[in-house]
Amino acid sequence: MTAARFAGSQDLHDFVTAYAEAHPDDVLDIAEHVPDSQDAAALVWKLAAAGRHEMLRFRDIAGFPFDVVTNVFACRRRIVRILGADPGRDDLHAVFQARARNLIEPVEVGEGPVLDRVSEGDGIDLTDLPLLTHFETDRAPYITSGIMVVEGEDGAAGNLSYHRAMVHSPTELAVSLHSRGDIWRMLGAAAERGRPLRAAMVLGGHPLFMLAASSRVPMGVDERHVAGGLFGAPLEVVRSPAYGVRVPACSDFLFEGEIDTEARVEEGPFGEFTGYSSDRSTNSLFRVEAMSSRRDPMLLDVAGGNSAEHLNLGRIPRESEMAEKLKERFPEVTGVHYPNSGVHLHCYVKLRRSRAGQARQVMLGLLGWDPYLKTVVAVDDDIDITDDAEVLWALAAHFQPAEDLFVVDGLPGSPLDPSSSPEGTTSRLALDATRGPGFSGVRIGFSQESLDRAARLVADRLPLRRERKV
Ligand SMILES: Cc1cc2nc3c(=O)[nH]c(=O)nc-3n(C[C@H](O)[C@H](O)[C@H](O)COP(=O)(O)O)c2cc1C
Repeated sequence: MTAARFAGSQDLHDFVTAYAEAHPDDVLDIAEHVPDSQDAAALVWKLAAAGRHEMLRFRDIAGFPFDVVTNVFACRRRIVRILGADPGRDDLHAVFQARARNLIEPVEVGEGPVLDRVSEGDGIDLTDLPLLTHFETDRAPYITSGIMVVEGEDGAAGNLSYHRAMVHSPTELAVSLHSRGDIWRMLGAAAERGRPLRAAMVLGGHPLFMLAASSRVPMGVDERHVAGGLFGAPLEVVRSPAYGVRVPACSDFLFEGEIDTEARVEEGPFGEFTGYSSDRSTNSLFRVEAMSSRRDPMLLDVAGGNSAEHLNLGRIPRESEMAEKLKERFPEVTGVHYPNSGVHLHCYVKLRRSRAGQARQVMLGLLGWDPYLKTVVAVDDDIDITDDAEVLWALAAHFQPAEDLFVVDGLPGSPLDPSSSPEGTTSRLALDATRGPGFSGVRIGFSQESLDRAARLVADRLPLRRERKV
């Protein structure tokens, strides 16, 4: 396996410069004055509507004394490049898993740019920090790229996960732990001990660190070790000033303090991955006791809502894990894809035809393993599962409603799914759109000679455009 590209430095700033030099056509550098921070997300949406997903660097957003970078993960091809996968081989999932499994312990370095400027106690004023408003329906400007880092108790593994955050007061952030993942469990354990949970939040990670933070690994695995695997070298960390939490040395901003186990504060609504503005939140309070930043920071944003960036960042690790699990157990499975249109709740899986009932078994596996999934569609191996239209065609032509679906009810789902129950439960649907035994349809087609002549005729007249896939 080739090394991940752009991994020579773990510094986001170096990545942004190196990527723009290597792929200038894939970066939009916006020097114009942007009067309203919401325009950044609006531009992401406008570009996406035109099938474009460039990484964006804003030089002059009103109120921001530094650059803002967003949309880094909007394009799957860019992620393939960053991971050093082979664009021609569809091996993104396998490469991600192979690197992520190669756990490497972080290494402490004496100092790092994130500690350039440290403020503590009364010296902290979070209201001074310029943040982006993403949607007009949001309660406030939000931090969307914030990664919480918590050290494990008594030598246990630490944990990393993303949590949206808004400024609640000069020294407090309101955060949502709605995924109720490992940090939520650590908060519960802290409550039992009668203590708040010490935590740090970092902004401004290298894309490989960002991907590691979004991976779903067992409670005993520390995502900082996964980051090491993705870099192919130990994550370089420094100790945070107050509690010694190990955070990436090159981050742009660091907030450090305690998550209260009891207090509840107003938080949300915020534009979430479902495409809806959501106020479902744990309404948690993070008291910031120390804050630090680089001398020359940039603000790394993750485009919110159901942007391709938000969805990709969550699903590349998830798809990779599911693809590996399924292929291990069911060798007939040849691919797994979570389409943008399905906002984490839909999955397409393709498989080589084997025996009756196989597709159902595969779908049961997926619906059981992935806590967010609501609908799975199984198709044959010849269908391009990255193309919604092909999957819908398979559904139209191969699927018999009375025979080819099943529903499982009363399962935990995403609490942010606006159609789930107030407790977040959901039912799950499996649609078998494989051709199945006895299918007698004959696909239409052309002779290779006709296709070649047609290609020559077209080439003489207009360039064939290939849709960008995300
Ligand atoms: C961009 C992005 C934003 C996220 N925002 C939140 C959030 O605000 N609150 C939350 O609980 N989970 C959020 N998540 C999901 C958690 O990061 C995810 O549940 C976590 O990585 C799971 O890891 P764990 O098993 O270590 O808890 C977000 C994920 C991504 C990729």
